[in-house]
Amino acid sequence: MTNVLIIDFGSQVTQLIARRVRECNVYCEIWPFNKISKEKVNKFNPSGIILSGGPSSVTSENKPEVSEFIFHLNLPVLGICYGQQTMVSQMGGKVESSDHQEFGKALVRVNNRCKLFDGVWNVSSEYQVWMSHGDRVTELPSGFEQVAKSDGAPFAAIADEKRNFYGLQFHPEVFHTPEGPKILKNFVVGICKADSNWTMSSFKDEAISSVKEQVGNGKVICGLSGGVDSSVVAVLLNEAIGNQLTCVLVDHGLMRLGEIDEIVELFRSRFNIRLVLRDASAIFLSRLSGKTDPEEKRKIIGNTFIEVFEEEANKIGGAEFLAQGTLYPDIIESVSFTGGPSVTIKSHHNVGGLPERMNMNLVEPLRELFKDEVRELGRELGLPESMVGRHPFPGPGLAIRIPGQDITEEKLNILRSVDHIYIDEIKKANLYGEIWQAFAVLLPVKTVGVMGDKRSYDYAVALRAVTSVDGMTADFYHFDMEVLGKISSRIINEVRGINRVTYDTTSKPPGTIEWE
Ligand code: XMP
Repeated sequence: MTNVLIIDFGSQVTQLIARRVRECNVYCEIWPFNKISKEKVNKFNPSGIILSGGPSSVTSENKPEVSEFIFHLNLPVLGICYGQQTMVSQMGGKVESSDHQEFGKALVRVNNRCKLFDGVWNVSSEYQVWMSHGDRVTELPSGFEQVAKSDGAPFAAIADEKRNFYGLQFHPEVFHTPEGPKILKNFVVGICKADSNWTMSSFKDEAISSVKEQVGNGKVICGLSGGVDSSVVAVLLNEAIGNQLTCVLVDHGLMRLGEIDEIVELFRSRFNIRLVLRDASAIFLSRLSGKTDPEEKRKIIGNTFIEVFEEEANKIGGAEFLAQGTLYPDIIESVSFTGGPSVTIKSHHNVGGLPERMNMNLVEPLRELFKDEVRELGRELGLPESMVGRHPFPGPGLAIRIPGQDITEEKLNILRSVDHIYIDEIKKANLYGEIWQAFAVLLPVKTVGVMGDKRSYDYAVALRAVTSVDGMTADFYHFDMEVLGKISSRIINEVRGINRVTYDTTSKPPGTIEWE
C-alpha cells in the first residue's frame, strides 16, 4: 500500500482533500503542519505530499510554514491556496496581499501544458474553479513556470515539472471546481504513482487482522446504540474475534418506536452476536424527571449511561477492551490559530470516561474512516441497507427532542408515534436517502384546534429535515408542500394529543440540527 500525506494549515475544507484522495482508492492522512517530523514522515512513507489551504497570510509575521525537509524528500508536492503561497515564499518567490480578492466561482485560463491537467484541461481554454484568497503569488521561485491564470491571480496554477512541484491558487477539492477530482487524481495516481488498491474489501481484511493482533485472547465489550458506527464495529469484531465479544445495549427509554426490538433481532438472530440487553428506562426517566435544562439533561444521560454500562460489564466479568466507533473526523487534530479552546455548543454524549474508569484499552477499528466509508464497510460486512443507510440518531435520544418541559412516558409515546409516521411517509415518498436527517420535536406548548365539531387543546410538534455532508453545517430540506401536507394530516389524524404540525426552516448555522 502507498500513502499520500496531507499537511494541514487549518483550511475549512482540508478533509475534502482527503475524501478526494481516498476516492482514488489511495490511503491518506491529514497531519497538522506543526506536528511533522522527518522520522514520522519516513515511517509513513508517502508517495507524495499535499499542502492544504488555510486562513493565514504568508505576509504576516507568525505565518505557519512547512518544515523545509519536505522539499528535499524527492517526492511530488502539491500546494493548494495557502499551501501554494507558502511553498512559493519558502522557495524564494514572492507573495503579496492584493486588492483584487477572489471569493467564489472564478475562471482560469490555461496557458501551458502540465501533467496535472493531462486529459482534463486544454491549453488556451477557460475553466470554472473555486477561489478563496486575498494574497496571491506575484513572482515564481526558479524552476517554476506559470500554467494558468485568472483575473485575480496571475499564477492560478504553477509547476516545476522537473521536481514534480505544483501549486494551485484555486481549490480543486471543492464541489464548485467541477474537474477538481480529476486534477487531484492526476496528481495522486499520475504524478505520485500511488497504488490505487485501497478498497473497502482490503480495509476490512486488514482491520480484522489488526483487531486480532491487538486483542489476542482478551475479552472485548462493545456498546451498541443501533447507530451505524457501533453496529459496524460490532459486526467487524464479531467476524474477527467472535466468541471473545459481548455487546451491551442499554435501553434508556429514549429510543424510537420498535427500535430496541429491531436491534436485538438483527444482532442476535441474524449475526448471532452475544448481546446483553439492559432495560434501564426507569432509572433514566426518574433521573430526568423535572429536568428541563438541555446541558443538565445531557449530563444526567451521559453519567447514567456510564454507570449502567459499567454494571453490565461487571456482571459479565469485565473485559480488557472497550470497542468504540470513533471516526477519522473525531481524531484529526485541528489546527488552532487562536490558541484558545473552542466554545462548547453542546456536550455530545458518548461513552467517554469509561475506559479510564474501568481501566480498559480501546479498540477503535473505524478511526481511519469517514462516515460514508463506514457505510461502505457495513455493506461489505453484510449489514442490511436499512441499518447502513440510517439517519444519525443522537446518544441522548428523544430526551433532547422534548425541549423545555418535563419528560414523561406519555410525551415520549406521542413523540414516538409522530416520528414513526413522519419517517414512514418520507420513505414512501422515496426521500429518505436524499435527506441527511429527519425527526420530530414535541413542543412545550398546547394550542387550540377544532376537530370534528369539538374544540381541542393539544400539543404542537415541529418537523425537522436537513441535508448535510457531515452534520457540521446543514440546510433545511425543501419539501414538496403536497408531501408535507400529507405527513401533517396523517400525524393529526393518527396521533392522539397532537393538533398542530409546524416545519422548521432553520439552517445550521445559525440553528443546530437538534433543538437542544
Ligand atoms: P447538532 O444538533 O449539534 O447535531 O447540530 C449534529 C449531529 O450530531 C447529532 N448529535 C449527537 N450525536 N450524541 C450523538 O451521538 C449527542 O449527544 C448528539 N447531539 C447531537 C445530531 O443528531 C446531528 O446528527
